[in-house]
Amino acid sequence: MRARTAVIPAAGMGTRFLPATKAVPKELLPMIDTPALQLIIDEAVGAGIEHVVVVTSHAKPAIEHYFEDAPEVIAKLRSTGRDHVADRLERIGRDVEVIFAYQDEALGLGHAVGCGRDGVGDEPFAVLLPDEIMGDSSLLSQMCDVSAATGGSVVGLKHVPLAEVSAYGVIDPSGPLDEHGVVRIRTMVEKPPVAEAPSDLIIIGRYVLTPDVFEKIGRVQPGAGGEIQLTDALRMQAAEGPFHGVLSDIRRFDTGNPLGWLTAVVEMALEDERIGVPFRAWLRGRV
Ligand code: G1P
Repeated sequence: MRARTAVIPAAGMGTRFLPATKAVPKELLPMIDTPALQLIIDEAVGAGIEHVVVVTSHAKPAIEHYFEDAPEVIAKLRSTGRDHVADRLERIGRDVEVIFAYQDEALGLGHAVGCGRDGVGDEPFAVLLPDEIMGDSSLLSQMCDVSAATGGSVVGLKHVPLAEVSAYGVIDPSGPLDEHGVVRIRTMVEKPPVAEAPSDLIIIGRYVLTPDVFEKIGRVQPGAGGEIQLTDALRMQAAEGPFHGVLSDIRRFDTGNPLGWLTAVVEMALEDERIGVPFRAWLRGRV
């Protein structure tokens, strides 16, 4: 079956964005005027996802607050003729069911995904890391199709210069890519030294996983800092059955650090129909 649920791990402290993230969760930092988390949910909905499980922490109440109704704000907007903004606010969380799960200890990505288990049930599901913003839903949609067709898990892939592989999960392909960018994966390793990297194909923050991954997460031995790596659970899946990657040339922004976030905001601003033209003019004069 095709994935209907997405898990979004959003419990991290956002230390790279301190002091802003003392009060505002990193996932709610604005991309112009839209929280990154909303863009992630829009991407999921565009790929056919109907339920979202946001894995958050009790230290970040603003995440849940974002999805609450705001009748006073909406009434004020409508009474002053700003219906388009009111309509946008009313749509938040309406086109998709959003529920919350909690990860109150930083025990790694595998642990975070495991915290979403009750909200997923016994069916394939997507995982979207909110530190990465994609240009559209095409990659996730293709990954959902490949998972439904193969009955196995699927990860998003990207080529990087070999010198950069040690910051990522790296896959060992078991053959060439097909004409759709799909490749069978033999195994994978988390953050290998360059000399030990099996390829230059890294796992980007999009996954479609079969539910047996939860049992495998439970068997992963914690690594440094007690962290349970998702990649270790995926390696167990790949050892047992079909496991694929999808390479795509989709536009991708790493918004997990201030420079990446700023780059993404600038790119989006240049294309924005409301501010793109004046912003471009200002930027030309400035640089
Ligand atoms: C995580 C995963 C890694 C993946 C990366 C993508 O790493 O553990 O396999 O390549 O996301 O961004 P992190 O960025 O949390 O260190």
